[in-house]
Amino acid sequence: MKFSSISLSSSANISMLASLLISISSRGGIGMPLTSAFTLQASNIAKRSVSSTVTTTATATTTATQWNLAAEGGGGGGSGGRTSNAVSDKDLLSKTTTNDGNGNGSDGKKKKKKQKQKKLETNPPKGTRDFYPEDMRQRTWLFDQWREVAKTYGFSEYDAPVLEAESLYTRKAGEEVTEQLYNFVDKGDRNVALRPEMTPSLARMVMAKKGGLGLPFKWFSIPQCWRYERMTRGRRREHYQWNMDIWGVEGVETEAELLAAMVDFFERVGLSAEDVGIKVNSRMVIGEVLSELGIPEDKFAATCVLVDKLEKVPIDAIQGDLEELGLDRSVVEKLLQVLTNKSIDAIAEVLGEESEAVLQLSQLLNLCKAYGIEEWIIFDASVVRGLAYYTGIVFEAFDRRGELRAIAGGGRYDKLLETFGGQPTPAAGFGFGDAVIIELLKERDILPSFENTGVDSVVFAMNGQEDLYESAIEIATKLRKGGQNVDIVLQNKKPKWVFKHADRIKSRHVVIIAPDEHANGEVSIKNLELGEQTTVKIDDIEEWARSH
Ligand code: HAM
Repeated sequence: MKFSSISLSSSANISMLASLLISISSRGGIGMPLTSAFTLQASNIAKRSVSSTVTTTATATTTATQWNLAAEGGGGGGSGGRTSNAVSDKDLLSKTTTNDGNGNGSDGKKKKKKQKQKKLETNPPKGTRDFYPEDMRQRTWLFDQWREVAKTYGFSEYDAPVLEAESLYTRKAGEEVTEQLYNFVDKGDRNVALRPEMTPSLARMVMAKKGGLGLPFKWFSIPQCWRYERMTRGRRREHYQWNMDIWGVEGVETEAELLAAMVDFFERVGLSAEDVGIKVNSRMVIGEVLSELGIPEDKFAATCVLVDKLEKVPIDAIQGDLEELGLDRSVVEKLLQVLTNKSIDAIAEVLGEESEAVLQLSQLLNLCKAYGIEEWIIFDASVVRGLAYYTGIVFEAFDRRGELRAIAGGGRYDKLLETFGGQPTPAAGFGFGDAVIIELLKERDILPSFENTGVDSVVFAMNGQEDLYESAIEIATKLRKGGQNVDIVLQNKKPKWVFKHADRIKSRHVVIIAPDEHANGEVSIKNLELGEQTTVKIDDIEEWARSH
């Protein structure tokens, strides 16, 4: 059936058509060539009743002429008979007069008139951020530092989708991170989630290659992660997280290399061991105590998560969790007693000199000495970290003044791939969020200024009787070829405005094309940093750009 042959004379027909098109368009009609999309929609009119369920905003129109108008007038990409949902929605509201979009029927128009138009909420969703250009420069600067360090240590960058199958995160150890999932059912009835962290995606990617990646490897990534957190200073509902991971090495050489890279970053941004420390422990301490007490291994991960919770809540608050886990309170009390020890020697006294945990920790501290980072590292048996998959060494970077939440955290997770049904593969890494570090740098007053837009020259045609704009284009092009970042003034502006603008964007020069100089084949260049003005031949401008 062709669109033009449909009769849409009655209002009932129009709203019915709208309802039908809604459910069709929400099932992937977007981007379909217009005529075939409509044929499908029209043929469904006969098959469906008026009461068909409406789940999204409407998409319909009344006549072929109007439809074509909608398609043509759709602007951005609306050619060739295609139109976007947004365009059609707008059209529907203005062209179908019998339904106000809220199911109010024929008197909807009157009600609509009375309704005050609701103002757009300009804040981004709670816990998320907009990045205006200055914020973006700050973010890019931070990412650049992370990328530089990663490159220096031989890591390769990777990425994965922000949307993953929910099952990638539904571990049953009672972790906060799984309780904070942004999860939903998509249009294909799949349970999906926005990634709260990168490690499970990395494990999925490794598993997908079925051992074909070649171990060991060092990879890094800077994903945006989503957690439905209670917001506190430095904790938000989305954050960017620098991830550094090494797969395929069993020894603590891995952890030492990771810690050295982390310290390298801190030093690069101007922090010292007086500002930041990195607490190090091994979950094997817990493992060994549990095995001494005869607790089965399958309770290890959940016990670690519980012990981590005890940093924030008293033991009475986790009584229910303990019972669910079938763990005696005395076991946790014994663990806590061991974990209050502040030196490896003290742990060795409890676990014995031959304890694997003790040997590993001692070796790690020796390697840290070899890297020259020992003043940053503090052994602290109470550090457990809240993620279930860590199996060995765990660590956490913290603000020595104790005012901020953890700056970064990581550890060894040798069994994660197994939990997904893969081959046992040793791995360790860390995640380093963007929020706390920026707070810390601000607090220490060592965060660079990001006011500077990076423009080297503002080019400005001082139009009098003569239109010099084309010459301005020619000069801007030469400057750009000479390697400069150039902002050409696009409107006819007064010099006062141009200099104010140049100052606001922190341009270093203003290049003025004025009638007299131009007649001599020259331009005037004002150096705003030195307050000096010079004249340069237009023929030499590219050369000048290279040296300024
Ligand atoms: P995590 O300890 O959950 O570990 O997070 C690592 C870091 O991400 C935290 O120390 C913090 O800097 C930052 N972070 C976490 N949640 C938030 C939040 N809501 N707002 C701001 N920053 C946050 C992991 O995610 C592991 N996957 C890290 C890892 C990689 N382990 C091995 N490889």
